[in-house]
Order: sequence, then C-alpha cells, then structure tokens
Amino acid sequence: MQLIKLNATDSTNNYLKKLLLETVLEDFSVVVTNHQTQGKGQMGSDWVSEKGKNLTFSVLKSKTSLLLHQQFMLSIIVSLSILKTLEEYNIPKLSIKWPNDILSDHHKIAGILIENVIKNKQIEYSVIGIGLNVNQEAFEGLPKVRSLKHILGVPINKEELLHQLIKNMQHYFNILSEKGAAIFNDEYESYLFRKNKPSTFMLPDKSLLTGIIRGVTESGKLQIQLEDATKEYNLKELKLMY
Ligand code: BTN
Repeated sequence: MQLIKLNATDSTNNYLKKLLLETVLEDFSVVVTNHQTQGKGQMGSDWVSEKGKNLTFSVLKSKTSLLLHQQFMLSIIVSLSILKTLEEYNIPKLSIKWPNDILSDHHKIAGILIENVIKNKQIEYSVIGIGLNVNQEAFEGLPKVRSLKHILGVPINKEELLHQLIKNMQHYFNILSEKGAAIFNDEYESYLFRKNKPSTFMLPDKSLLTGIIRGVTESGKLQIQLEDATKEYNLKELKLMY
C-alpha cells in the first residue's frame, strides 16, 4: 500500500484528486494528514477535526467495474469495512445512520465522503474520504459526536487503526470482485440505524415526516413506509432526525 503522509493539507480528498491528475497511483493508495484546513463533509458541510487527534484520510479505489447507478455500493462496502474494524476494537452498539454516518450508541464516530470520477457511465476511480474520531476529547457544540477514546477510555494508536481499516477495505472489495454486489445488502441493512422503528425525517422545506425505515434500494434510496404506501427517498430529499 502506498501511504502518503502529510502534516497539513486543505482536504485529503482534494489532495488525492489533484495528485491523480499528475501521477499514476496504485490501487488503495492512501493520503493521510494530521491536519485538514478545509475538511469537507456530506452535502457541502465542513468536517472539523482537532489537529493530530483523529484519522482524516482518503483512499484511491480504481477498477471496481461499478456502473454509475451502482455507486451506492461503494458506500456500503466502506461502511461495512469501518464497522468490521470498529468491532475488532470492541466498539459497542454500532450502526449506520443512512446513508453513511457510523454511530456507536446514537453518537457519530465516523463520516464518509466518496467522490467518483466517471467515464462512459462507469466509475473510473473513486476517492474514498474517511473522517474517524479517534483520540479527540471534546467536540464543542456537537453533543451527538464521540471519539473512540471516549468510548474505550484509552488512547488508540492511529497508524495501527488505519492499517486495519485498509486491510478490511481490501477484504470487502475482494469479495465484491469475486461475488458481485448483491450479497452486501442484507449485512448493510442489519446495521441500519432505526430500521423498523417509527422515525422522524426533515424534508427540504423543513416540514417533518414520520415513517418506518424498511431498507435501502440498490441505488441507495431509503425506503420508508408511510401510512398508505412505501416510498423511496434520496439523500437530498430528506434527513433523518435523531
Ligand atoms: C460526513 O460525515 O459529512 C463526511 C465526512 C468526511 C470527512 C473526511 S476527512 C478525510 C476526507 N477529506 C475530506 O475533506 N473529507 C473526508
């Protein structure tokens, strides 16, 4: 594995994408930094992480042969790789808050931002950005956020954790190339936060909707059972409230 360590950068996703314009990189090349000055989150949000405390990194994945409409499969594989790693660290009560927030007992501990480069309706390569809260002790103004140190009570070796994460990611991508995408859906859904429970969602006009999460479609839409029908929603159409 090619590992590029940076003291600081704006965003490891941006750094890796720029590097790919100039260089050919091995599959699973990793860019990791101690400090992101403009870390990016989902839907245009910021990803803020205390200098030196957490894992902020991006992984290059090429040759998945996934078509554009299958891009959610990357989210599934990356989420499952993170969960497997965290289970190995005995992190309890893990779940995935759709589409790809990783929670331990209702608290967010990791986020994923995948950026795909598309050519001829196929994903040419993906830049998989992961922010994992490892040793940070306080998250001001973010009551629903925790780090592994909070949960385990001891500091964690970030390098070892990063290697374990990449190893597990390689494992899941190998399964994808051997057995295809379909087999991951049940495993993903088994971790789905609030599955089969009545939940409240916020729509883009800020109105609230109540329904029961039943699953996720192949394209990553959330299936919600409403009073009279089951409807499918994409990421931009609703937000699950806690
Ligand atoms: C989210 O939950 O909103 C996604 C957060 C993703 C953060 C990671 S940190 C490494 C990589 N570089 C970025 O700028 N963002 C991702």
